Amino acid sequence: MERRQFLQKSCSACLGLAGASWLLSACGTAMPAFKANATGNELVIPADKFPVTQQQLLISTPALANQILLVRRNDQVKALYMECTHEYSGLTPTKTKIVCALHGSAFDFDGNVLKEPALLPLKQFPVRSTDNNLIIQIA
Ligand code: FES
Repeated sequence: MERRQFLQKSCSACLGLAGASWLLSACGTAMPAFKANATGNELVIPADKFPVTQQQLLISTPALANQILLVRRNDQVKALYMECTHEYSGLTPTKTKIVCALHGSAFDFDGNVLKEPALLPLKQFPVRSTDNNLIIQIA
């Protein structure tokens, strides 16, 4: 292999690695998630699935059409229903807000509307903690 070919192939390989690295960093990390089965009107989340160092956890359950986002703020845990209050589409949490892909509404992590067309805040479920669990009351 001539020097010129070697340099061309080496540079192509470096550019490919740089591109792959950029793509991976752009994707970010997936939000932690937990699948819970309902017991009566409650979802039981083991405390070790949502440690105090963790700020958010997505909860899926067959009992609800959409997910619940647990949000920890100042030692308080909120359970936000990930259903848009505009026309009931499922919502997606990002690093900075909760967004609706259907018509563009956005909500903060307290459930307040940041961007219309939604006018009402997100539904919240009561949450209580026991020694080993978080209990979400879904009805
Ligand atoms: S359903 Fe979410 S903005 Fe319309």
